[in-house]
Amino acid sequence: MIPEDEMLKMVKYATKAPSGHNTQPWKFKVESDNITIIPDFTRALPAVDSDNHALYISLGCALENLRIAAPVFGYDTKIEFKYIENELNIKVTFLGSTENVHSDLFSFIEKRQVTRNEFQSEKLKPEVLAELFDDILEEGVHLKLFTSDKEIRTLTPFIIEGSNLQFNNKAFVNELVSWCRFSEKEVLIKGDGLWSASMGLPNIGRFVGSFIMKNLVSAKSEAKRWNKIIKKTGGFVLFMVEKNDCNNWIKLGQVFQRFGLKATKLNIRHAHANMPCEEQAIREKMIKTFELNNLTPLLLIRFGYSNPLPYSYRRKLSDVIV
Ligand SMILES: Cc1cc2nc3c(=O)[nH]c(=O)nc-3n(C[C@H](O)[C@H](O)[C@H](O)COP(=O)(O)O)c2cc1C
Repeated sequence: MIPEDEMLKMVKYATKAPSGHNTQPWKFKVESDNITIIPDFTRALPAVDSDNHALYISLGCALENLRIAAPVFGYDTKIEFKYIENELNIKVTFLGSTENVHSDLFSFIEKRQVTRNEFQSEKLKPEVLAELFDDILEEGVHLKLFTSDKEIRTLTPFIIEGSNLQFNNKAFVNELVSWCRFSEKEVLIKGDGLWSASMGLPNIGRFVGSFIMKNLVSAKSEAKRWNKIIKKTGGFVLFMVEKNDCNNWIKLGQVFQRFGLKATKLNIRHAHANMPCEEQAIREKMIKTFELNNLTPLLLIRFGYSNPLPYSYRRKLSDVIV
């Protein structure tokens, strides 16, 4: 039997994980010696994530935080993927006690953030790159790096085409706007979603915010913004799976979370440029162009140096514990 306060602290660390549109699509069932992470499909994103791969990647990120936090509380973990009523749940059992060692990434769980501002053009030194990607992989998950200006330029048409498709798609824009939080008041009430300040934007309120998003932000203005962002980056990394299924989405989430925590440790910022992975037609084109063969690209992440932005919010523990 593990003390309740320790269990709640570990759940809190799990909830610090990133998730698509900050939907936090998870519930946690806490029992005497285990925590089960349960997908919360009421928080799915049908327009941008119709197969729920991003939802399960987010659960993988939460799982990795739990796994990293457990030894700090003195526990080993046993992880089981279980289908309950056709839905994949993740059961984490806490075993015996290990030495109370600090996992070296633990202290970065609360400091990590997705930083959406423009990065500096500075490239990462080879030894920093090597450390960033050292020892983060899981079986079945692969990475492809784009670090020279020439390599980065090859990504531009895919990113712009993906962005164009999404911003010309009403369902995508409506879903995005429904998860935007245009004031601190709104984000404090909801505890989720994309808070304007954490995207480097002013608090303008829902009425003005949704008017701007639906009428002034366009495929053209987004393309212009992305062209600037792409030029100013230290590099990109594509996260891919061998087998495109739930188990591997979770594993990819674990790898992505390790990357995010490692980057935070090294003072490197990162943010998503996922559009080419989210749009099936462009995903296929990327597979052909980059000869990815049997690999499915699921996340495209830019990284580099820049200043932090305000942190995004999380819901209360009582809202996520069943
Ligand atoms: C699977 C996944 C997909 C995401 N997709 C995007 C994306 O397309 N664009 C973006 O700006 N952020 C994306 N994010 C980042 C989330 O919006 C971010 O994690 C969330 O707002 C919480 O903020 P934080 O990570 O700074 O705590 C994604 C995160 C995950 C885990």
